[in-house]
Amino acid sequence: MKQFYGKKIVVTGAASGIGRLMALAFAGRGADIIVADLNIEGAEKVAREIHAIGRQAWAYGVDVSNVDAIKAFRLQVRTDLGKIDGLVNNAGVVFGGVFEMVPLEKHLLTYQVNTTGLMAITHAFFSDLLESSDSHLVNIASASGYIGLPYGATYASSKWAVIGFSESIRLELIERGFDQVGVTTVCPGYIATGMFDGIKAPSFLPLLTAEKIVAKIMAGIENNDAFVKEPFAVKSVDILRGALSQKLWDKTAKLLGISTSMVQWKGHVR
Ligand SMILES: NC(=O)c1ccc[n+]([C@@H]2O[C@H](COP(=O)([O-])OP(=O)(O)OC[C@H]3O[C@@H](n4cnc5c(N)ncnc54)[C@H](O)[C@@H]3O)[C@@H](O)[C@H]2O)c1
Repeated sequence: MKQFYGKKIVVTGAASGIGRLMALAFAGRGADIIVADLNIEGAEKVAREIHAIGRQAWAYGVDVSNVDAIKAFRLQVRTDLGKIDGLVNNAGVVFGGVFEMVPLEKHLLTYQVNTTGLMAITHAFFSDLLESSDSHLVNIASASGYIGLPYGATYASSKWAVIGFSESIRLELIERGFDQVGVTTVCPGYIATGMFDGIKAPSFLPLLTAEKIVAKIMAGIENNDAFVKEPFAVKSVDILRGALSQKLWDKTAKLLGISTSMVQWKGHVR
């Protein structure tokens, strides 16, 4: 996106964490924000914070795991506000633990929020992005989208799917000549928002602050970067993994603390 002033941007999961900070960062650059979250009180609070800095904001309670709710949300936004110019797919959940000890419903919900919900909301608003003269789609994936994550198998795989989806859509837009629609896939390591409380960050992947990753995301959108990978080591994970034999990679992942990082997870479950 080349300029933000007066643009209408939907941010999902914007009631807290990096979603809230991205909503405020867009508003700080002159955009008006559709603050969408399961947590309507939190969304209303963020909308008030945005009003306080002089931009428009509208809070919507929406459950992105529910396709009917997404369709209703899309219709409501069209009726209330017209077309949008930006969509940030940020809502996400994680349920860590020993695979078979985590209830199946939680594994399924992880895919419904992080993957199928993200795809469905993109589908719902895609025509707006195509019609805007300068639009952007941001998909929040994760560094775990490049690796196996013991005790977080469905979370990691939900993000592998987001990376594949987001990169495919980006290339499809280029093939179709929609150069004005930017797509940025965001792959952060662990961030200090509470979602991953209890984890032990691998030594080469220091815990990110929410402020730092949001600053990198905003710069990535402004540069129309295909990927934002942070901290720095995330940029080389897939190269390293491809270069090493499977056995050596398994040992490296353990040695670096990737394979055990989720053992003590006790992050919040919203
Ligand atoms: N925290 C990390 O270490 C980390 C690392 C990499 C990627 N991410 C990703 O960043 C994104 C934001 O996470 P965060 O760290 O800010 O956590 P967070 O828990 O503060 O934010 C997630 C937001 O999503 C909302 N949400 C959850 N389920 C929803 C649903 N069904 N419908 C609508 N909204 C829903 C929550 O209410 C919350 O406001 C997520 O996609 C997460 O997977 C986080």
